[in-house]
Amino acid sequence: MTPPDVGTSKPPMRVVSGIQPTGDLHLGNLLGAILRWVRMQDEAECLFFLADLHALTVDVDPITLRANVRQMAAALIASGIDPAKSTLFAQSAVPAHPELAWILMCTARMGWLNRMTQFKDKSGKNRESSSVGLFTYPVLQAADVLVYRATHVPVGEDQKQHIELARDIAIKFNNDFDTKLFVAPEPFIGGGTAARVMSLRDGSTKMSKSDPSEQSRINLTDSDDAIAQKIRKAKTDPEPLPDDPALLDGRPEAKNLVGLLGALLDESVGQVLARFSGQGFGAFKPALADAVIATVSPIRARLEDLRRDEPTIDAFLARGADRARDLAAPTLAAVYSAVGLSH
Ligand code: TYM
Repeated sequence: MTPPDVGTSKPPMRVVSGIQPTGDLHLGNLLGAILRWVRMQDEAECLFFLADLHALTVDVDPITLRANVRQMAAALIASGIDPAKSTLFAQSAVPAHPELAWILMCTARMGWLNRMTQFKDKSGKNRESSSVGLFTYPVLQAADVLVYRATHVPVGEDQKQHIELARDIAIKFNNDFDTKLFVAPEPFIGGGTAARVMSLRDGSTKMSKSDPSEQSRINLTDSDDAIAQKIRKAKTDPEPLPDDPALLDGRPEAKNLVGLLGALLDESVGQVLARFSGQGFGAFKPALADAVIATVSPIRARLEDLRRDEPTIDAFLARGADRARDLAAPTLAAVYSAVGLSH
């Protein structure tokens, strides 16, 4: 049987990325991923999804999960993802993702998954009691992008290893089945300073929604006062800011805050330091708070409006899922055919 034609010539640029629906976006998500997604909408065909199947890999309450998918969709739209330009949907609404993931689990190697640092971080000392899903998580992530033959996957630095795994899986599948079906996607990590936004309490760990300290992160739902207070209390060191970016090495908190201001104002670290060198954090922090508030406050206002309009969010997601299913179907059919599962 001839495999369905998914087009094996060089594909046009197609951007695919996802985010776990944990309820609230933080500044790391926003600068590391979402605002870059927003910019890419005008440059390429884009698909963005709420990774609700990935959310099942750790304990989750069903009512909370359902609410979080809507809430996160609203947060993406409030941040500038335009459902008229981009395909926005919930991962679980497109069964081709887990279907392809099963087949790719037979391509991925144990040794490859054993090297995934995020599994090690997330399972910690509880490896044996972790879900199998947490271990195979990166294979579902590979299916998420390969099913759309994505060329570019904009993510923060912490996801780079997972996208490289998706490349390895794509290449091995193509070799094993003598096909050009899959496109090896590029991890598209933001240049500059936003690729890895660190905790406000500890410059050596990333800003994350799983950090137990609320003070460690700025959420998009934080009030202006809460933002200013979190930045006032952010950990720093007693030294004044240097004039040379290299002198921030060994000062992780200072480096993070300077990087944040650079990312928010679209300036290099050198440009930020040129304005603040010789000054302490007493002068720097108010400028940073102003910049964070200027970015977050309009998003928060739009989010408050959108949250009242659940039917509109649901309609956007339903339309996005229809389109995503249409785009995924030919790839999945070609995969079935390539491995000998035609029926
Ligand atoms: P998630 O939900 O943890 O994060 C979503 C996006 O935000 C980025 N990010 C950060 N960037 C900079 N600094 C930070 N402190 C920071 N924290 C988070 C992440 O790199 C990511 O781009 N496994 C993924 C979701 C996913 C996915 C996919 C992504 C599922 N399938 C397919 C891309 C393609 C995750 O848990 O991201």
